[in-house]
Amino acid sequence: MNRYSRVAGTGSYLPERVLTNADLERSVDTTDEWIRTRTGIERRHIAGPDETSSSLAEHAARRALKSAGLAPSDVDLIVVGTTTPDLIFPNTGTLLQQRLGIHGCPAFSLEAACSGFIYALSVADKYVRCGESKCALVVGVECLSRFVDWTDRATCVLFGDGAGAFVLTPADEPGVIATHLHSDGKYKDLLYFPYGVSSGFDKLRSNSTDGLKMLGNEVFKVAVRTLSRLVDETLAKNGIERSDIDWLVPHQANLRIIQAAADKLDLPMEKVVVTVQDHGNTSAASIPLALDTAVRDGRIHRGQLLLLETFGGGFTWGSALIRY
Ligand code: UT7
Repeated sequence: MNRYSRVAGTGSYLPERVLTNADLERSVDTTDEWIRTRTGIERRHIAGPDETSSSLAEHAARRALKSAGLAPSDVDLIVVGTTTPDLIFPNTGTLLQQRLGIHGCPAFSLEAACSGFIYALSVADKYVRCGESKCALVVGVECLSRFVDWTDRATCVLFGDGAGAFVLTPADEPGVIATHLHSDGKYKDLLYFPYGVSSGFDKLRSNSTDGLKMLGNEVFKVAVRTLSRLVDETLAKNGIERSDIDWLVPHQANLRIIQAAADKLDLPMEKVVVTVQDHGNTSAASIPLALDTAVRDGRIHRGQLLLLETFGGGFTWGSALIRY
């Protein structure tokens, strides 16, 4: 039995191609001003034709392993959060495993939309705590650009592609102090992709402009309300005060939602990691991407207390409290 897991290293990767708000002004009826004031987004990265979720994940995973001082051969568990798998099967975790040149350890992916990374982190943390894993690779990755309707101005301006990864190893001290996960399927119709394998597969193949559906304004209201409750729950269950938090690392969907969560915590925006302007909403990738950015640019230091929180399709939502 290990007592805790800790984040031994982080990594992230963004595809080379950048799509700016000005680029979008040329393709849909929108303005840079509307996008920036309503969302905070200025640009997003788009995967190239030969890139896939597993290829983005490989870059992020190798960087995370390097920062942990570990090698792919040390990994004994891979958990990937994604809603944009390369293939229906094999799962993206297994495809990543093959790309890393390792064989035999359990590798799987789970889908919880924008909450995919926090769900994956929660699962991997438990494997490490119970002693079944000594080096777990946790990845959030998306190629959302593949199923966004690029003619729908209400959604196409919001999303981007990318990957982020953590390496978890056992520790006597936390580490990952706690994760709190929730979901409620009654909100399905507010944010969803209309086709899958067992439903509408023929349309999935024939209707490439029929993309993700979102009632943005409704999602916004529930997100702010739910994240506020989640912050209260996380603080209360772990016996910590708002002032104990060094950094809020939120899901990067909308700057106004992020500001509402910061207000709830009484945190100045200088203590909130914000990357939405550069990445857009990268769904499951957004939290590990943001956290890795802040580690590498020197904002987040070892020993600091981090609150990660997310909200997405389902709805699914969750938090992680981490002593980095
Ligand atoms: O990551 C998973 C969770 N997802 C989220 O958290 C997203 C939550 N929702 C949001 O971030 C916001 O609701 C949006 C950014 C999606 C939209 O912002 P909003 O302030 O809620 O705008 P709205 O949907 O109420 O639309 C306001 C107006 C509408 O026009 P009318 O009806 O007032 O004439 C829209 O048609 O803005 C119009 N509009 C646009 N105008 C220019 C919608 N999209 C655009 C656009 N450019 N891209």
